[in-house]
Amino acid sequence: AQDKRESLYVLSAWAGKFFVEQLWKSEMGQVIGLNYFKERGYREDIIKKFELGYSPEEWTALVDKAQEAGFHPDYLAASGLAIERDDKSLYDRFRGRVMFPIHNLTGRIIGFGGRTLKTDKKVAKYVNSPESEIYHKSDVLYGLNFAKKAIMEEDNCYLVEGYADVLSVHQAGVENVVSSSGTSLTTGQIKLISRFTKNVTILYDGDEAGIKASLRGTDMLLEEGLNVKVLLFPDGNDPDSYVQKFGATAFKDYVKSHQQDFIFYKTSILLRDANNDPIKRAEVIRDVVESIALIPDEIKVSVFIRECSSLLDIEERILLAELNKIRLNKAKKA
Ligand code: CTP
Ligand code: MN
Ligand code: MN
Ligand code: MN
Ligand code: MN
Repeated sequence: AQDKRESLYVLSAWAGKFFVEQLWKSEMGQVIGLNYFKERGYREDIIKKFELGYSPEEWTALVDKAQEAGFHPDYLAASGLAIERDDKSLYDRFRGRVMFPIHNLTGRIIGFGGRTLKTDKKVAKYVNSPESEIYHKSDVLYGLNFAKKAIMEEDNCYLVEGYADVLSVHQAGVENVVSSSGTSLTTGQIKLISRFTKNVTILYDGDEAGIKASLRGTDMLLEEGLNVKVLLFPDGNDPDSYVQKFGATAFKDYVKSHQQDFIFYKTSILLRDANNDPIKRAEVIRDVVESIALIPDEIKVSVFIRECSSLLDIEERILLAELNKIRLNKAKKA
């Protein structure tokens, strides 16, 4: 099993090199792939650092080359780089896409994300490697190998939604940034972050999906004992589009002035939807206290209860009663 894992690492590294070579050396790679990255505003040093690549628009470009290089078909299928047809023949999973290799903590490639260059809405925007013996999605954060040092130095981790966000934010000089890349945040990913810092700032897309994911993510982070700040980007922007439009300085200023402690964030988001309906307001209070109840540290709990009390203008003892009710219910369920 160890041998198989090692073979998958070797094949993934080889494939990473193949995609990089295609990007820089092949005609289509340069004209289509490299040009695409440059038009999105990525500098050459970043394209190289993150080992971005291009997969040819052919059915068996990688499969053929890999077999020539001596890789066994079984591994090509097991890595997810190739897909097996019913007749056992293989074809490339990634075709005509710009490639984002996914690295583990030690910097070895374990999988890939490939972005289409087509604007056709029927084509999946991203195709990703499936789970394999070396790629367990729930335990991987995109960019963490490039971010871990900065995360420790800054004692903070920025959490974004996608590959492009990691690249642009990193390029802007904010290197403590990672993404869960499509999967909703998992406990395994949070445990990874907490090896390097206890402070997370969520920078999600400014759309409905981003808001929902930020609230869910907040609760999971709180439950694991992390401190959470949240910020959404305006007008449907994501961190990538914001920093590319307005520049590194404006981006950093925006983050500094708009990040909010989770309690302010959650309260304002929920109150916005409640208007002035008293029943909905009561639900908001309960909802916010539910998040507070997840925090394992009693001192923090009491601080947040006090904050919540002044924020919503409700007596602390009422909030404490609500907190105890939530805890009792949880104890009963457990
Ligand atoms: N994603 C995915 N499959 C899709 C769409 C999204 O795996 N069909 C993942 C990707 O990791 C993507 C992330 O979810 O980076 C966030 O999705 P989205 O915001 O739609 O894409 P962006 O990262 O903003 O991509 P781009 O800027 O290239 O359009
Ligand atoms: Mn798994
Ligand atoms: Mn999105
Ligand atoms: Mn996005
Ligand atoms: Mn984007």
